[in-house]
Amino acid sequence: MRLTSGSPRPILPAFLAFTVAAFLPQLSSGAAPFPQDLEPISIVGRETSYLYPSFQGLMSDNDTIRLGLDFQRMLRINHMLYIAARSDECYNYIKVLVPRNDETLFACGTNAFNPTCRNYKMSTLEQEGEEVVGQARCPFESRQSNVGLFAGGDFYSATMTDFLASDAVIYRSLGESSAVLRTVKYDSKWLREPHFLHAIEYGNYVYFFFSEIAVEYTTLGKVVFSRVARVCKNDNGGSPRVLERYWTSFLKARLNCSVPGDSFFYFDVLQSLTNVLQINHRPAVLGVFTTQANRTKKLICMKVLL
Ligand SMILES: *[C@@H]1O[C@H](CO)[C@@H](O)[C@H](O)[C@H]1NC(C)=O
Ligand SMILES: *[C@@H]1O[C@H](CO)[C@@H](O)[C@H](O)[C@H]1NC(C)=O
Ligand SMILES: *[C@@H]1O[C@H](CO)[C@@H](O)[C@H](O)[C@H]1NC(C)=O
Repeated sequence: MRLTSGSPRPILPAFLAFTVAAFLPQLSSGAAPFPQDLEPISIVGRETSYLYPSFQGLMSDNDTIRLGLDFQRMLRINHMLYIAARSDECYNYIKVLVPRNDETLFACGTNAFNPTCRNYKMSTLEQEGEEVVGQARCPFESRQSNVGLFAGGDFYSATMTDFLASDAVIYRSLGESSAVLRTVKYDSKWLREPHFLHAIEYGNYVYFFFSEIAVEYTTLGKVVFSRVARVCKNDNGGSPRVLERYWTSFLKARLNCSVPGDSFFYFDVLQSLTNVLQINHRPAVLGVFTTQANRTKKLICMKVLL
């Protein structure tokens, strides 16, 4: 499906079907409704990988020995690799590590269930300015999912805003002139138990990729669907009468990664996604999807973005 450009469309998360071009392995003639598992192109064993240097952390640190480093985020900027792990103090899991501008990194940690954010100078890792409250920008707990990025000076985040993960949010804040906006609270048409995977700035939009419990199929119990949601960067929220402080450009659609057969076979659980690539001179993102029940079956799908 083409996500139409132009003026922001009003409100209402629309459930729009996607057409996804899938790279399908050849189906054996007749029976198998499933594509065969692809053979890996090459496999590297433990013996080989041991030959390369690896970062083990401070082995004098008892917590590192006991718990491992527990890497949370990695970020490569030019020739520098920034690694966010769990720091000792009250188990502060660094869940956000993104560039804010050319000189500054923005990092947020769970901070013993009290999420907090700071800015750091990229070159020296010195703290810059004051700490910022991390709620709605960083999860409370390491197992809660989140994504975040800066676009045009605003921080776009998708995460849970509370310890119990009952309030999921797609949120914009920290901009100098734009309004702070969020998705409507406790409304399952906007978000329902989402698992956030990726966010991308592209053109006038920010896209969020996630899986969530489908609201379309309530009779079948909990079914996971994968989605892309889109907001306009120039969204300023609604009026005091309707959607004040909420997105007015929020749209979402199901990602349809499926194999034709007697009936369509769906790979509904998005596991991973690339940034925007050029494929045949068209902007595209590639995603890896698995099945619902048995997540060992994988398929790679392609979605053309514009
Ligand atoms: C998914 O895509 C296929 C192929 O384009 C289409 O036939 C099918 O109806 C789509 N499914 C949904 C739920 O939109
Ligand atoms: C680390 O563990 C060793 C051995 O159990 C102990 O002697 C030492 O005091 C511990 N260090 C810290 C800083 O807790
Ligand atoms: C899931 O798939 C794997 C590999 O194909 C298979 O060995 C396993 O039995 C399956 N499990 C279930 C619950 O279907």
